[in-house]
Amino acid sequence: MRKKMVAGNWKMNKNLQEGMALATELKNTIINPTCDVVIGTPFIHLASVAELLKDSPIQVAAENCADKEKGAYTGEVSAEMVASTGATYCILGHSERRAYYHETYEILKEKVLLALANNLAPIFCIGEVKEERESGVQNDVVKAQLEGSVFNLSKEDFGKIVLAYEPVWAIGTGLTATPQQAQEMHAYIRSLIAAKYGEEVADNTTILYGGSCNAKNAAELFANPDVDGGLIGGASLKAEDFAAIIAAR
Ligand code: PGA
Repeated sequence: MRKKMVAGNWKMNKNLQEGMALATELKNTIINPTCDVVIGTPFIHLASVAELLKDSPIQVAAENCADKEKGAYTGEVSAEMVASTGATYCILGHSERRAYYHETYEILKEKVLLALANNLAPIFCIGEVKEERESGVQNDVVKAQLEGSVFNLSKEDFGKIVLAYEPVWAIGTGLTATPQQAQEMHAYIRSLIAAKYGEEVADNTTILYGGSCNAKNAAELFANPDVDGGLIGGASLKAEDFAAIIAAR
């Protein structure tokens, strides 16, 4: 049975003290969740947040890692370093990384391999931009993203990743995909996985929806058979909102 999950993505918000305060609130609020709960924090928060949450049901994710193993890459943070903090997941392929930091399919392929080699489960994000949706090529875009960065994985390794479908036009815009749009795309993604790795792997792959998912619309999105949970940006920055989304899963 695939995992149900709600994952937060704090992005470049919250300084260390604010992040610790939010993590403490989450620790006190989310006691017995009925799904897996992950929070993605900036690198500098990881060690402190992972230590704070080590006996809680909340797991910790980085929001990126380097595409190189180690060495003279000033300013970069390796997957091994991320894992050494106690984090267990790594968000990769987020559209903001693709768009603003020019992360290509090839770069992301390396990052995914390095995360897996260091026992970090990638939460791998895919999704089309507005113009692609308007011209009806969203399926081709998502297929190319999967083929470019994760369909090289062995069946065993592919079984360790979580996917997040995040239509770029819905991220931070308040425009959510309709439950039908989300279900259609998630079912399509699952069909691609089935064609590549077989029905069993496809059935066991957790596919999250992300893009203006909030306490009001989460239940409707999560009610779809192929939507296994959410990747939550803005609404993960307030404990009350994030807890309400978890309760909706
Ligand atoms: P949002 O972001 O919930 O603020 O739209 C989602 C994401 O970028 O993961």
